[in-house]
Amino acid sequence: MKFDILTGNPALARTDCIVIGVHDSGELSAGARAVDRRCGGALSRWLRHGDFAGKLGETALLPAFARLKATRILLVGQGASTVTRRNWRKALQATVGALAKTRVESAAVALTRPATRDLDDYLFARSAAEITHAALYRVNDLKSAKKPPAPALKSLKLGPVGTSATAARRGLRHGDAAGRGAALMRNLANLPANHCTPTYLAEQAMELGRRYPALKVKVLEEADIRAEKMGCFLAVTQGSDQPPKFIVMEYRSPKAPRGPIVLVGKGITFDTGGISLKDPGAMDEMKFDMSGAASVIGAMSVVADLELPLHVVGLVAACENMPSGRAVKPGDIVTSAAGLTVEILNTDAEGRLILCDALHYARRYKPSTVIDLATLTGACVIALGHHHTGVMSNDDSLAAEIVAAGVRADDRAWHLPCTEEYGEQLRSNFADMANVAGRDGGALTAAAFLAKFTQGLRWAHLDIAGTSYASGAAKGSTGRPIGLLTDLLVTRARR
Ligand code: BES
Ligand code: MN
Ligand code: ZN
Repeated sequence: MKFDILTGNPALARTDCIVIGVHDSGELSAGARAVDRRCGGALSRWLRHGDFAGKLGETALLPAFARLKATRILLVGQGASTVTRRNWRKALQATVGALAKTRVESAAVALTRPATRDLDDYLFARSAAEITHAALYRVNDLKSAKKPPAPALKSLKLGPVGTSATAARRGLRHGDAAGRGAALMRNLANLPANHCTPTYLAEQAMELGRRYPALKVKVLEEADIRAEKMGCFLAVTQGSDQPPKFIVMEYRSPKAPRGPIVLVGKGITFDTGGISLKDPGAMDEMKFDMSGAASVIGAMSVVADLELPLHVVGLVAACENMPSGRAVKPGDIVTSAAGLTVEILNTDAEGRLILCDALHYARRYKPSTVIDLATLTGACVIALGHHHTGVMSNDDSLAAEIVAAGVRADDRAWHLPCTEEYGEQLRSNFADMANVAGRDGGALTAAAFLAKFTQGLRWAHLDIAGTSYASGAAKGSTGRPIGLLTDLLVTRARR
């Protein structure tokens, strides 16, 4: 997709299709008024028939009226005249959905946008490009029926742009990269576990390294993982026939400040629970348990794509969590790479086990910031539902930075506590700590477990169990939190 900003009178745009907004009060978007003026009131005369109510998300494709360069007009219902970011997003999703069903190759979008104080030119353009990518995303399904033809849409002009065309262009570039990163994440996460194995994830990371020479990728094999003494990671993988992979991706710009940002992803390509076997209901969704890994790989592609003046390291611990005669058993005690011993009371609390060793590995980079991403707990889904990612951190200012990035990206996160009391609940009679602490505050005790391995680091943990994929009819990866991470990284790059 080629993105550009729409400047000047939209009625004069040289494009296949002009997209204009109509509100449910009958009020027209500024773009619609311009079109109406240009064609002598033909639009308002047509609207008087009453076929189009301007309901949010409603669309109608019309042949263009006289004196327009375009061949079609797409009317889009924008609902209330006060345009919130949420309503605007829905209208833009409807726009792209409707265009994708036509043979329109180029379109100029002139919907009413939210007030600039809520969404400046940069964020408006970035969001628009991200939303477009997401709406055009088609799951890489394995259905044998012939696929419907790909959408014809190739170029999109987005407006209206306020005072800062430069900022808007930059926004489009960043949103385009974020959109592609999110699609990469979704493709990885949507694949079933018999296709998306740890080996496959490692191959995809290597492939990214070939595409971006500035991105150095290496993969630690089981013997290397053993040499790193990652006893917790090895305990999780030992029941699986698939070899584990520890993926290291490093992007370093010569302009980067000192101390990299390290992103750590949970890459459980399938979580059966192990010997603490899960209930069968919705167990298929545990193929998404590598969404943290997929978001690290997606975020690394965004950084490399935008050539940000940063030093970013992506670490992915990838393996399966399976029951077998060789699987780790409840009560087994293992030694983490950090040297702390862990009593594995529940083999289904495996994410924290692979992450604690990956977080320890991060220390060698003397990082300025470490952020892990994981579908870590069902408890986080109980606490926050599906709208906010949970953020836990040993540094309130880092948590605030992440929450703010989520607000700007419209990929929201909520700060949850990570204080010592939760860590005390992990007490074990036999080892330095247990890997679980009962049901209460499950998202927080999971974070508290990780906190024991991140002392002295500036660290945050994002629990994306409720936000990175959807269940039910819309089952699939959402591409979150690529938007949040992109904002965080480009904001850091500006410093
Ligand atoms: N991958 C799951 C967490 C999860 C659950 C993600 C539901 C998405 C939806 C994780 O490995 C897990 O099983 N966590 C346990 C921890 C418990 C045993 C302390 C959980 O949340 O039940
Ligand atoms: Mn589990
Ligand atoms: Zn898991």
